[in-house]
Amino acid sequence: MLSRSVLVTGSNRGLGLELVKQISASLSPPEVIIAACRNCEKATSLQEVAEKHKNVHVVKLDVSDEASYKIFYEDVEKLVSTKGLSLLINNAGVAPKSTRINMVKWKQMMDTFSVNTVAPLMLTKTLKPLLTMAASQIQGNDLSVRRAAVINISSILGSIAENEQGALYPYRASKAALNAVTKSLSIDLRSSNILVTSLHPGWVKTDMGGKNAPLTVEKSILGIINTLHSLNEEYNGEFVQYDGKKLPW
Ligand SMILES: NC(=O)c1ccc[n+]([C@@H]2O[C@H](COP(=O)([O-])OP(=O)(O)OC[C@H]3O[C@@H](n4cnc5c(N)ncnc54)[C@H](OP(=O)(O)O)[C@@H]3O)[C@@H](O)[C@H]2O)c1
Repeated sequence: MLSRSVLVTGSNRGLGLELVKQISASLSPPEVIIAACRNCEKATSLQEVAEKHKNVHVVKLDVSDEASYKIFYEDVEKLVSTKGLSLLINNAGVAPKSTRINMVKWKQMMDTFSVNTVAPLMLTKTLKPLLTMAASQIQGNDLSVRRAAVINISSILGSIAENEQGALYPYRASKAALNAVTKSLSIDLRSSNILVTSLHPGWVKTDMGGKNAPLTVEKSILGIINTLHSLNEEYNGEFVQYDGKKLPW
């Protein structure tokens, strides 16, 4: 089993939807899969997955709506109960277009930071008691996704070392900042035995990745799930891609 419970944000389409599909269809699926999305009534593909797999629970969450976090926490708590939440996958993200130096806008920067950087941090902070609860259910202090983990879906475009083409200010800066969040969380949550890793899914054919992307969602998520199984102390506070290869910050 990957972990006892999983929460995926932005699970109505793209990588988030495929994560829920593959995790729920696995041979030994989690007891609880929480598929968060902001417009659940329109999430027909996700609702179909939930119809088929009774352990999939569709729960409303707009990650940039801080005021809704308290109710969301209560929804999650009801579903996972005293076993806590084992795996949080901060997947929801945005990538605004037209972001060359002459086009970039103040609001675009702020809105992108809100979804890509601030929300993963604040959601992790909100759910920390449930993650800590899950971590304490397994004896010892080794790190794994099976015990408790936060996976921040980042991007190679957030790598400062790999930036050779410039532009994409909101997206690059927000994912670089998300990587900084990952690093600090990995240090701060170590004593609670919670693993924290940034993960690049590859360049994938989704609404965001576009048609020219070389990877299908199926292949990216297959790789991600395999990689999640193998994450341990060595990957805490690190940046890895879907196939497990470590990436430079
Ligand atoms: N595709 C790639 O090549 C690629 C490469 C590197 C990293 N990534 C990262 O992978 C993650 C998933 O991307 P994707 O390719 O699957 O993109 P996508 O197809 O555009 O899907 C984005 C998802 O995020 C959700 N979302 C956006 N803002 C939200 C909010 N405020 N609250 C809740 N959900 C929100 C969307 O929900 P709505 O349908 O409601 O908008 C949608 O479910 C993102 O973090 C992205 O940066 C993707």
